[in-house]
Amino acid sequence: MRCVVYTGTGGREVVAIAERPDPVAGKFEVLVATRFAGLNPADVLQREARHPHQPGSPADIPGIEVAGTVVACGEAVTRWQEGDRVFGLVGGGGLADRVVAHEAHLARVPDTLDDREAAAVPEAFITAHDALVTRGRFVPGETVAVLGANGGVGTAAVQIAHALGGRVLAGVRSEQLRDRVAELGADEVDAPAAVLERGGIDVVLELAAQAEHVALALAGLAPNGRIVVVSGRPGAETAFAVRDLMARRATLVGTQLRPRPPEEKALIVTAFARSVVPMLADGRARPVIDRVYPLEEAADALDAIRAPGKLGKLLLATA
Ligand SMILES: NC(=O)c1ccc[n+]([C@@H]2O[C@H](COP(=O)([O-])OP(=O)(O)OC[C@H]3O[C@@H](n4cnc5c(N)ncnc54)[C@H](OP(=O)(O)O)[C@@H]3O)[C@@H](O)[C@H]2O)c1
Repeated sequence: MRCVVYTGTGGREVVAIAERPDPVAGKFEVLVATRFAGLNPADVLQREARHPHQPGSPADIPGIEVAGTVVACGEAVTRWQEGDRVFGLVGGGGLADRVVAHEAHLARVPDTLDDREAAAVPEAFITAHDALVTRGRFVPGETVAVLGANGGVGTAAVQIAHALGGRVLAGVRSEQLRDRVAELGADEVDAPAAVLERGGIDVVLELAAQAEHVALALAGLAPNGRIVVVSGRPGAETAFAVRDLMARRATLVGTQLRPRPPEEKALIVTAFARSVVPMLADGRARPVIDRVYPLEEAADALDAIRAPGKLGKLLLATA
């Protein structure tokens, strides 16, 4: 197989393209052939040794999501067979044209999505749904603030919240992208701090890795509101008035998908398959792709992840 490898820890100089033997699916795993792979901020953190791969996944091949066609099944696999189109989560090894995934961490790709579109879905839409609905306990009719709404997770969260009957306030710092985010279903789009100043917000999704957003979010929260911290830089700290948390009977909740136990990941993917895949199938939600890079340009693509002003996902063409 062809894959991206990290030859060490550091910057773009450790990014290489390698030929490796195809991985072999374990008992409950499938081997997926990919044409495109989704890139994520976690891939860059892993390059800097600040976000480790998961046990059982390749240590030096980044990539935390997969989409493609099943080409081999482990001996105990019951859910999938060769030829099935699947997408889902992996603990590492995703930036490759062959990827091993646990059978329970995959969902079926709807026919309405081509391979490129499917590759832009899993991490963004699974994270967004889990944060909004499972961690954020969103119910229809509530007001949701999505901070960092033009990113991969943000564009997914705006669409899911809109499709589920939420009023969506989108926090986007780039003025040029605000109309595009409104087209995804946001009712109001403004700078993140300005969105929070509107007040009366039931669920805040913090996707912009700005620790100070927590205190601002608390100030904008409705009674019984929830702040879901999906994103934070390693070591980042902030201060907020504990009394504000009490006065609003607020909930502050964090989430991290990658290190969760396999059983929990299976539940998260099942929830996504039940609630979000139907939206992708009937067009209520759609993958948003900013740019596709050839595999050979993986170092540039990884550098681009932290550049501001993207709408949606960056992908690598793996085959
Ligand atoms: N907890 C989890 O399990 C989990 C899962 C997936 C992702 N994440 C994290 O969630 C975050 C979003 O992921 P993603 O894939 O959507 O990343 P992304 O595509 O890079 O989006 C990041 C978003 O944050 C905004 N942003 C960055 N710096 C900002 C600032 N100083 N002020 C205002 N907005 C700012 C970006 O706006 P600009 O375009 O203007 O920079 C963009 O809208 C990342 O930090 C990622 O690591 C966590």
